[in-house]
Amino acid sequence: MNGKTRDKILFVCQACGHRSPKWLGRCPNCDGWNSFAEERVAPPTPTAAGVARKAAPCSLSSLSGAPESRCSCRIGELDRVLGGGFVPGSLTLIGGDPGIGKSTLLLQCMNHLAATAKVLYVTAEESVQQVKLRADRLGAASEQLYLLSETSMARIVETARDWKPAFLVVDSIQTVFSHELQSAPGTVSQVRECCGQLMQLAKGEGITTCIAGHVTKDGAIAGPRLLEHMVDTVLYFEGDPSYPYRILRAVKNRFGSTNEIGVFEMAGSGLREVSNPSELFLQERPEGAPGSIVVPSLEGSRPILVELQALVSGASFGTPQRSTIGIDHKRVALLIAVLEKKAGLPLMGQDIFFNVAGGVRLDEPAVDLGVVAALASSHLNRAAPKSTLFFGEVGLTGEVRAVARPDVRLNEASRLGFRHCFLPAGNLRSLPSPPHGLQLTGVSAIGEVLERLF
Ligand code: TYD
Ligand code: MG
Repeated sequence: MNGKTRDKILFVCQACGHRSPKWLGRCPNCDGWNSFAEERVAPPTPTAAGVARKAAPCSLSSLSGAPESRCSCRIGELDRVLGGGFVPGSLTLIGGDPGIGKSTLLLQCMNHLAATAKVLYVTAEESVQQVKLRADRLGAASEQLYLLSETSMARIVETARDWKPAFLVVDSIQTVFSHELQSAPGTVSQVRECCGQLMQLAKGEGITTCIAGHVTKDGAIAGPRLLEHMVDTVLYFEGDPSYPYRILRAVKNRFGSTNEIGVFEMAGSGLREVSNPSELFLQERPEGAPGSIVVPSLEGSRPILVELQALVSGASFGTPQRSTIGIDHKRVALLIAVLEKKAGLPLMGQDIFFNVAGGVRLDEPAVDLGVVAALASSHLNRAAPKSTLFFGEVGLTGEVRAVARPDVRLNEASRLGFRHCFLPAGNLRSLPSPPHGLQLTGVSAIGEVLERLF
């Protein structure tokens, strides 16, 4: 190409990242009003990491299948979600609401890693002193943990290239900026550009990199889901701020499964691993209360017992209220309709509130039978028998369908002292050997469950 390539001016929607050559009042992609801002887009440089080295094709069968070496961060819950630890040279994004504990988790994990490797923690949000104060609370004092208070991407990359740390943390991606772009830090193009530069750094220098990113009100990582396809692993740190429990979930993982979760508890001295979530979530369960039911939900390979609570009461206004927390409201509405039609419970005119205790979020159909039992129990004002739990998927005709891994669920229930379990008849038939001390009742329709219970 001859002569100087000129920077292009583009208008970028700050909500969704849609680009347009001219200013628009309304974004055609996300329908947001007045969301376009002018941004200068630098022409791509041909020296970008991917282009610099020309790779030759190689045959798949000639590659050795040795598993990649993982760096365990000595936080079991985090390792599990990552699929066994950090893969060297990978780029991980940890997203979550402000104040949920991203910086705390990163600092604790990097402190462990710094025992054996050099770690550079770039704090773009807080001063070095603030991080030091937090580190004191956490008891983090590794010698090889270095802090850098910097917001300029160019200087971060330069420092990392000179220093060659094994691990790099950028906290957070919304506060760093690249001089090559005119737009303010945190805008879509800045976030995308900075993430791109970190990606090149991670892959080019083999530095394992973690980025913290804030989630906006509507749930997307600001600079929306733009970052998700650029990084190797996306973890969301979530939890109800009014509870101390935090759940770390993998949304994308190029090196492992995405259905594992890690459970933490925020304490005075930082995040504590919860290796026994069932006990924690059942701690304050009101035994013998109508509307309270325990279900074994499978999160990845791990069964977790959680308490479902339903409150059914006569509607005080014309339109009954429906509110659910921790579970898809459409799923609950469907099960209410099934109960009404197939079991003859008159629920349509009732106010129904549904809650999953402990701030847990469930999205497994195996909890359906528990939801049905909780609704019926609250409506009839009759408590389910003590030490009883339920699982099974409920279909539209009121049938109870088999679910995956009944053995794992039953073992966890038996471990926690449950005595009786209602499960799909299909599961009961194929169960190799029931756990000791657990009485099992196979059911094939919701009517059977209600009949036996109430
Ligand atoms: P932080 O890691 O700063 O959140 P983020 O980086 O996601 O914005 O965590 C902040 C919250 O955690 C704050 O409300 C205080 C609480 N916290 C504790 O309860 N105990 C602790 O030991 C620490 C360090 C923080
Ligand atoms: Mg923070």
